Amino acid sequence: MNSTLVAYFLGYRLMNHLNKTEWLVLLGLLLLSTIPSLGIIRLIELLNVDLNIMPANPRIEVEPMPAVFHIISSITYCIFGAFQFLPNMRSYYPIWHKVSGRVLVLTGVISASSGLWMTHYYAFPVSLQGNLLYLVRITVGLLMLMFILLGLFFILKNKIPQHQECMIRAYAIGQGAGTQSIIFVIWMMIFDEPNGFTRDVLMATAWVVNLALAEWVINRVKLTSRTVIKTNYKAM
Ligand code: HEM
Repeated sequence: MNSTLVAYFLGYRLMNHLNKTEWLVLLGLLLLSTIPSLGIIRLIELLNVDLNIMPANPRIEVEPMPAVFHIISSITYCIFGAFQFLPNMRSYYPIWHKVSGRVLVLTGVISASSGLWMTHYYAFPVSLQGNLLYLVRITVGLLMLMFILLGLFFILKNKIPQHQECMIRAYAIGQGAGTQSIIFVIWMMIFDEPNGFTRDVLMATAWVVNLALAEWVINRVKLTSRTVIKTNYKAM
């Protein structure tokens, strides 16, 4: 079987195995990953290909390595991560979940660490990173690292619910870049391009929104599993 046939077969099987909600979640998360994925253009431009699409970023031009690691790992984390939270994907493709989970631990750790490095060492003008954004980036970067490592610890101890909770929180932080793009687009449709403190607040808001959504999802998962246990118990 050639690779096109294998891809077609896997895609066809996936279509049959995921329910409507899972499709919506998957498409939503992939869509949320698209704007940050444009970071690939930055990588191409760093190879001296003059596309002139991305705004100039002198910090990355002076010190490109952390940004290269950050962009590659973050995009992989967001895209592969989108497939990890679908229950049917986990049941029908357990090997995929395990292998992709290992890739995600590695890319998540690189993404958060390189993000922290750039936050601290890049020379930002205050208009692009004030004290508020500095503090928020350091906090969310450390939290993302902590949740990924805790999630890994719990799965090694076979504590599935705790593993799920940590990984949902870490992914929500990772997807902050996607939510920031949405907030910025809405803001710029109404006002001007945000700068300084306003920009810091909008960036921070995206992480707050994502973490609140993560807690909502975690509570829903808890409620659903409690209902399933109760229903099974009554049926016995
Ligand atoms: C995993 C999800 C993430 C994605 C998809 C993502 C995406 C990106 C992209 C594409 C860039 C390059 C921007 C450019 O070319 O100008 C970037 C830069 C950056 N990211 Fe992230 N990022 C993520 C997570 C994080 C986290 C958690 C932090 C905070 C610790 C962070 C901090 C930074 C910083 C400080 C820069 C440099 C910004 C600049 O020089 O203007 N990122 N990110």
